[in-house]
Amino acid sequence: MSKYNLALIGYGYWGPKLARNIQNSNKFKISYIIDNSRKNLNLAKKDFPLTKLLKDYKSLDKSNIDLVVISTPTKTHYEMANYFLKSTNVLIEKPLALNLKEVLKLEKISKKFKNKLFVDYPFIFSGSIEYIRNVIKMNTYGKLIEIESFREQAPIRKDANVVWDLGVHDISILRYLLNKNPKKISSLKYNTIKTSQKDTAYINLHYQNNLKVFVKNSWISPLKIRIIKFKFERGIIICDENEPIYKLKVFTRKNISSPIYRLKLPEINLSEPLLNLINYVAKSLKENTNPIFNKNFNIDITKVLEKI
Ligand SMILES: NC(=O)c1ccc[n+]([C@@H]2O[C@H](COP(=O)([O-])OP(=O)(O)OC[C@H]3O[C@@H](n4cnc5c(N)ncnc54)[C@H](O)[C@@H]3O)[C@@H](O)[C@H]2O)c1
Repeated sequence: MSKYNLALIGYGYWGPKLARNIQNSNKFKISYIIDNSRKNLNLAKKDFPLTKLLKDYKSLDKSNIDLVVISTPTKTHYEMANYFLKSTNVLIEKPLALNLKEVLKLEKISKKFKNKLFVDYPFIFSGSIEYIRNVIKMNTYGKLIEIESFREQAPIRKDANVVWDLGVHDISILRYLLNKNPKKISSLKYNTIKTSQKDTAYINLHYQNNLKVFVKNSWISPLKIRIIKFKFERGIIICDENEPIYKLKVFTRKNISSPIYRLKLPEINLSEPLLNLINYVAKSLKENTNPIFNKNFNIDITKVLEKI
């Protein structure tokens, strides 16, 4: 099978992780790596000696490129996606842009020029979230009553606050699992250290059927925490994305008043979420489909981020 030609822009912290998964997928040829930092281009040269390197993304010959992957700082996303979507498909890092107006514009361009727009919300491609989606769909443990998410520690950003940087993971997971946006949103955001952007957020979301969601996001934490608790009528599922194998723990009780829980460790797909995303993108290009991102996915997520 011939491979799709790809150009990757941004070889800082996240770019090399994307490159490794793109390479592992075997479905794309990384034809170009573009970065305006000479130092990072030198790192790219070591990792991918046969790939052409460029400093300026505008010097890329777009005619032969099937997918542009953008992994540069968030403030550059709109301009770059706007530039490339007119001629090719784009996979871009979360958050897609810095406001709803820009996201609406990018979605419009993608439709007009019939080029696909994908966003890297990696957790919606994880085996654990897929398992929970199925539990919700099959009603395995009854009604979903409450979700609590704790997402702490990450590099401090200058161009987006902690909600747009970390909270976007929670909002994308919720939109993916619940297929709708919350009815009510309230939040408390503040700084615990002197940074230009809010570093901590407590978010309350109320969904239909009285589902309550609490999200805590903070860049400032000595421990890296990525835990979500899903409380159903007849069971509680705890998802810890930092666990290498047992990411999900399912606790059930014989009856609601019993203090004794039984523990089940379900088998889940452990392949890397980024690899699953890249495979999804390749399949979308091959079959000319895009089921996840077609249904106002990015627009809905950005609406919630703006309200928070
Ligand atoms: N999906 C995830 O879980 C995840 C995780 C980390 C970061 N990210 C996202 O990835 C993006 C990049 O984050 P990062 O941590 O890798 O940042 P970074 O600063 O480490 O890397 C960005 C790279 O882009 C390059 N760059 C900047 N402006 C450029 C331009 N105009 N032209 C070409 N190259 C340019 C920089 O030189 C740098 O190498 C951000 O949007 C961030 O939110 C996503």
